[in-house]
Amino acid sequence: MSTQPTTVVTGASRGFGRAVAAALVAAGSTVVGIARGEHDLASVRDELGERFRPVAADATDGTLAEDVLREHRPGLLVLNAGATPHMAPVHEQTWETFSRNWHADTRHVFAWTRAALRQPLAPGGVVVSMSSGAAIGGSPLSGGYASAKAAIRYLRAYAADESRRAGLGLRFATLLPQLTPATGLGTVGVDGYAARNGVDRDTFVRNMASVLTPEQVAKAVLEVVAGSAAEYQVSGAGLQAL
Ligand SMILES: NC(=O)c1ccc[n+]([C@@H]2O[C@H](COP(=O)([O-])OP(=O)(O)OC[C@H]3O[C@@H](n4cnc5c(N)ncnc54)[C@H](OP(=O)(O)O)[C@@H]3O)[C@@H](O)[C@H]2O)c1
Repeated sequence: MSTQPTTVVTGASRGFGRAVAAALVAAGSTVVGIARGEHDLASVRDELGERFRPVAADATDGTLAEDVLREHRPGLLVLNAGATPHMAPVHEQTWETFSRNWHADTRHVFAWTRAALRQPLAPGGVVVSMSSGAAIGGSPLSGGYASAKAAIRYLRAYAADESRRAGLGLRFATLLPQLTPATGLGTVGVDGYAARNGVDRDTFVRNMASVLTPEQVAKAVLEVVAGSAAEYQVSGAGLQAL
């Protein structure tokens, strides 16, 4: 039996989350992997084996968060699920497309952060939430994406303060990855900015200083968990505390 605590990874079926789940299973953890699509989750289960426990559900559901924390008593939450932004300049967005990432990314980090404080996680528990470099630099073609990811940074700070005030002994951290064409979500972003700059995707990617891979993000998450800083940026050049 593993001595590693159980981990919850949201958005574990593709992209960064899938790589994070694989790295955690390789490190000895049992991973409760959450995403809506059963088919992709089943393929992760086939790849990673029985220490990957798929839960097909909407991660924005606060009741789900409470139930999963109660049933699995995880020591680590990786709050990574995120919607693909609607790529268009602001005047070509609707309120629905503009606010998409608030209703998915931010809402799910709120739900799980709230549950982690209220249940609460056992002392020593760690919550890593996926923000984005866009929270610092903006993302003018992604509607409310950058502000939704900035709200996740504020949620981290508020939660860390509440944990300290209540003596819960929890750690809350955020990771800000750079844009990468290596995932479905990132490809949509890269295509949007390439078209905006009048170049094709390959040219746009060649002009990037470095290209981040899901495996680098997974390694970064393990380093964030082992580290002590509150916020980190990760690019193809590596991990850096903010
Ligand atoms: N890729 C980049 O360039 C980049 C850069 C900075 C930050 N990020 C952030 O990193 C995170 C992962 O991005 P990615 O590129 O790996 O995206 P991705 O390849 O599109 O994967 C997104 C994952 O989230 C899941 N998901 C989406 N909405 C969900 C919901 N409501 N409930 C449960 N699961 C949900 C998806 O599965 P289902 O659709 O089946 O639910 C999928 O497993 C996101 O928060 C993203 O904003 C990405």
